[in-house]
Amino acid sequence: MYITEFSADGFKNLTDVSMNPSSGVNVIIGENAQGKTNLIEAIWMLSGARSFRGTKEKDTVGFDRDFARLRLVLSTAERENTLEAVLSRNTREKRILLNGIKQRYLSGLFGTLKCVIFTPEDLDLTKGAPDNRRSFIDLCISQIKPAYSRTSSKYENVLLQRNTLLKNIAQGISSPSDLDVWDEQMARLGAYISVIRYQYVKKLRIFAKKLYGEISGGKEELGLKYVSTVYQSLEGRSDWSGELSEAYLDMLRKNRGEDIRVGFTLSGVHRDDVAVEVNGISVKDFGSQGQNRSAALSMKLAQAYILCEETSEMPVILLDDVLSELDRSRRDFIITKLSGMQIFITACEHIPKLRGKKFTVSGGRVSAPGRKKKERPAEKP
Ligand SMILES: Nc1ncnc2c1ncn2[C@@H]1O[C@H](COP(=O)(O)OP(=O)(O)OP(=O)(O)O)[C@@H](O)[C@H]1O
Ligand SMILES: [Mg+2]
Repeated sequence: MYITEFSADGFKNLTDVSMNPSSGVNVIIGENAQGKTNLIEAIWMLSGARSFRGTKEKDTVGFDRDFARLRLVLSTAERENTLEAVLSRNTREKRILLNGIKQRYLSGLFGTLKCVIFTPEDLDLTKGAPDNRRSFIDLCISQIKPAYSRTSSKYENVLLQRNTLLKNIAQGISSPSDLDVWDEQMARLGAYISVIRYQYVKKLRIFAKKLYGEISGGKEELGLKYVSTVYQSLEGRSDWSGELSEAYLDMLRKNRGEDIRVGFTLSGVHRDDVAVEVNGISVKDFGSQGQNRSAALSMKLAQAYILCEETSEMPVILLDDVLSELDRSRRDFIITKLSGMQIFITACEHIPKLRGKKFTVSGGRVSAPGRKKKERPAEKP
């Protein structure tokens, strides 16, 4: 899939942006604080996922604006899709359209535009906290199975309710038997999430291992393992509603006393992790900076490859400020591995030997070389 038209106005500092990106590489150059990441974020928001910067929807509206307008035309093997969003500080005034059909939330757009984003923070995927890896896996799965994100939100909600109840029990406001109904729901949702995540990580391992082997010139081997806080092994299991749900429920019952004492749910999919190893050694604990970066890049590239395989469409790749963080060989590797996909690359300065359609960002305005001078916005003094 690739974006053929993109426009934005009033989204953060973006003003009157109208672009016809190339279906290959697009290079967006601009000095600091001009709007490069805002542009990437605007595209990302139309994928229906939450902002990768954690910006609240209403905060995307330009400081001196009432509305943020975004529009994108996406060409896929099946059809041409139009995604539109008019966001407002007053959520009742927002308007979100997928092929002209009104959606209640931005998440209603989820599943059409599939993006893989690389930011400098993503280079810490293997080093950072487990919740980064869980969110990464959950997003990867949701892109393939949009219904999974609803299951994952339901789990979050049940977890929140259960934790509140645990605190109320400790204060004598509620009784331990009130937990039964939540535990049963949590066990079913948790068992399902465990199985699906396990299967995804297994697939991710195959792709990432091959990619890491190439980056390291065959000298090192990457290993990925889903670490469950509930199950010893999930290998070959898909029967989440039977024995696995029972085992999850047993774990919750066994931990009940301790959970009440601490006031939160000690074990479950919200505490799981993905262990990343290089040559059998934890890369988080013992790996070099380069090994961690290569492992993170391999995992992200693997996400793109799995999307291609599962959806028969190449995702749109967003590389925000990441190439300048990498050495020449990793930079070349990533570009080669993404060839054929539509890529948006941002950078403060020209990247040597990188060919593609060039755009410049200045003060929230985007221009492409070759546009007539009168179309270019006048620069503010
Ligand atoms: N809601 C908003 N309205 C207007 N401007 C905003 C809003 N939110 C953020 N900005 C501004 O947008 C500007 C550009 O931000 P952006 O992160 O896109 O810069 P950038 O070009 O990626 O810079 P860098 O190279 O430093 O990463 C910042 O100066 C920021 O203050
Ligand atoms: Mg930036």
